[in-house]
Amino acid sequence: MMSETRHNQYGSIRILDLPGLEEAVRLLQSDQLVVIPTETVYGLGANALSKAAVEKIFQVKHRPMDNPLIVHLRSDSDLERYCEDISPQVYDLTKRFWPGPLTIVLKRRAIIPNFVTAGLDTVAVRCPDSPLTQMLLERLEFPIAAPSANLSGRPSTTTVAHVVEDLSGKVPAVLDGGDCTVGVESTILDMSLERPVLLRPGGVTLEELESVLGEILVDPSLTRPLGKGEQPKAPGMKYRHYAPKAEVVVVRGDAFKTADYIRTVLGETIGVLCFEEYLSFFPECPAAFSMGSEHSVREQAQLLFDRLREFDHHPEITRVYAQSPVSEGLGLAVTNRLNKAAGFRFVDV
Ligand code: TXA
Ligand code: MG
Repeated sequence: MMSETRHNQYGSIRILDLPGLEEAVRLLQSDQLVVIPTETVYGLGANALSKAAVEKIFQVKHRPMDNPLIVHLRSDSDLERYCEDISPQVYDLTKRFWPGPLTIVLKRRAIIPNFVTAGLDTVAVRCPDSPLTQMLLERLEFPIAAPSANLSGRPSTTTVAHVVEDLSGKVPAVLDGGDCTVGVESTILDMSLERPVLLRPGGVTLEELESVLGEILVDPSLTRPLGKGEQPKAPGMKYRHYAPKAEVVVVRGDAFKTADYIRTVLGETIGVLCFEEYLSFFPECPAAFSMGSEHSVREQAQLLFDRLREFDHHPEITRVYAQSPVSEGLGLAVTNRLNKAAGFRFVDV
């Protein structure tokens, strides 16, 4: 297959694979958007150095203009070209985690345009671990700016089917890299300050970062709702995110107890997001979905966005009760996304 076209009610999108790579190159070179695969989530890609191209990202996603984009590089040998004040610790990180799900915020050089960074004097850079996207970056003379390839506010896309759902008729093509293996977005670490600060938990865990850097500060917005007048350091983290149309409530506590609690609140308009092991608690519920095994946070990360999207296919569901994963390791990213989808609505049992 070189390319295939898929449609939804809004229009069509071309699905490109390896033989279609040259087409993706041509589209990006002519300031068009291409959805690119990465190991975390699909990205809505554009020439990071072209204003006309980057403006299309904001239009298509309905993304607020004050929310800066991540710039995707071929490797850490591109860092000097786009960033400055790069400490040896930054290279310790890239040697260990690139290509991979770690985004690093650094002071930007003037070559990185204002419209990519929303006027900030820093830029977020990452090197994605996807063979197709690596080949694409090799073929281009510019880096790719790419936010997650979902409409703003919706869960990120981790499969081509999700991309078709959100972006058909809005973007000419998606490069098909299969299902994303990590399933939650990259970790964002600010290395532009005196001390490293975690701005968003993601595919590289806090524990892994601390094994390289020592203690890392954690932006308070990651674990609780913001107070009045407070701003998260990653501008995008202030928006309601990752949410299905139904209201989500996270039920915290021992897994058996939370499943038992959810059983008592079931009704025709109630959906359930639970661990695989507890699906059998909800035989009558038309919208009970598994987010993977209680014991596999990797599986939970891979499935979370797909399952959150699933509730939008059940318009009768107005409220979803979700079991809460553990928040260590990759679980910090999973609970952060789920808590944001819930707008920090909790029941503790
Ligand atoms: O895994 C990922 O990071 C995916 C794939 C496509 O690479 N991309 C992604 O992009 O999640 P997006 O736009 O959905 O999230 C980028 C986040 C936003 O919260 C944004 O505010 C923050 O990164 N960000 C971008 N530039 C920044 C900067 N200079 N300083 C602080 N935060 C920044
Ligand atoms: Mg996003």
